[in-house]
Amino acid sequence: MVRKIKRLAVLTRDCSGVNAALRAVVRTADSMGIEVWGVIRHYAGLIKGDFCHLSRIDVSGILNNGGTILRTSRCKEFMTEEGQRKALAQIQNHNIDALVVIGGNGSLAGAHVLATKYGVQVVGIPATIDNDINGVEMSIGADTAVNVAMEAIDKIRDTAFSLERIFVVEVMGRKSGYIASQVALAGGCEELLIPEVNDDFSTLLANIKEGNQRGKVSWIIVVAEGRAKAHDVAQKISEATGLETRVAVLGHIQRGGRPTAFDRILAARLGNYAVQVLVEGVTDVCVRLKTGELGVIPLEEAIQPKDFDFVTEAALIKILT
Ligand code: F6P
Repeated sequence: MVRKIKRLAVLTRDCSGVNAALRAVVRTADSMGIEVWGVIRHYAGLIKGDFCHLSRIDVSGILNNGGTILRTSRCKEFMTEEGQRKALAQIQNHNIDALVVIGGNGSLAGAHVLATKYGVQVVGIPATIDNDINGVEMSIGADTAVNVAMEAIDKIRDTAFSLERIFVVEVMGRKSGYIASQVALAGGCEELLIPEVNDDFSTLLANIKEGNQRGKVSWIIVVAEGRAKAHDVAQKISEATGLETRVAVLGHIQRGGRPTAFDRILAARLGNYAVQVLVEGVTDVCVRLKTGELGVIPLEEAIQPKDFDFVTEAALIKILT
């Protein structure tokens, strides 16, 4: 028999669209007579029992804001058995029947531990600009991040063209080349450097030399932060080719700001669906939209490395530039 949920708690990481997802969770739950508690600062707040009641009104006016109204943190203590037991005690003491965890790999891995080791009913909602949740086509926040980076690159291109310069633009992604590859395609960038492809820059340098001999004088090279520092790449290019380079590091502007319509709609659908599946008694899954259909994927699977075809993506970039 399915256990009735009276009270659920929500934890969030930060990226654009997370507030929209939180709003959808709170209002869907409210429409079903379920009380919602927000957990302040993610797993750190779960360990401390730092909860706040969230009504319909508490989530009004947040839909178009980036970040998370609940604030967030990285929490080493939750990685320990002791931290997890403290979190479990808080869940029980506050009579929380189920959890919704909105975030990326680390958040979902924590949710999986709570479900499998401690029997907590948990549903995850994928939200990360890295878009690296396995089996999930689009995570909340990724579309906004790519659009922010694309707008920046469009502006940089004006100077790159006018002054006939080489620009190396560093985007986020410590382990993921998602933003870099997508913005290279969307922004018509000539070269792409990502953590998933670890060569010695010789192809990049040869391409620039060969292009320059043909009379090409301006480039935009996108590098994901986890592959190399933009300054190092620029220096290598200048030393090898004698050409002038400039650097732009986009940083956290990609993670914040007003979410795109795509991210808001995705957040609304996934937030609503997460509560629906919890009510049906489902646990240890991540909700997702796949080819337009809402569904779930086991957390165990979602936290595995994502299989993204960067080779095909890089080949397309080469053909189009
Ligand atoms: O996982 C999302 C992400 O923004 C990565 O792209 C980036 O490498 C990392 O987080 C940065 O984390 P922090 O803001 O904690 O330094």
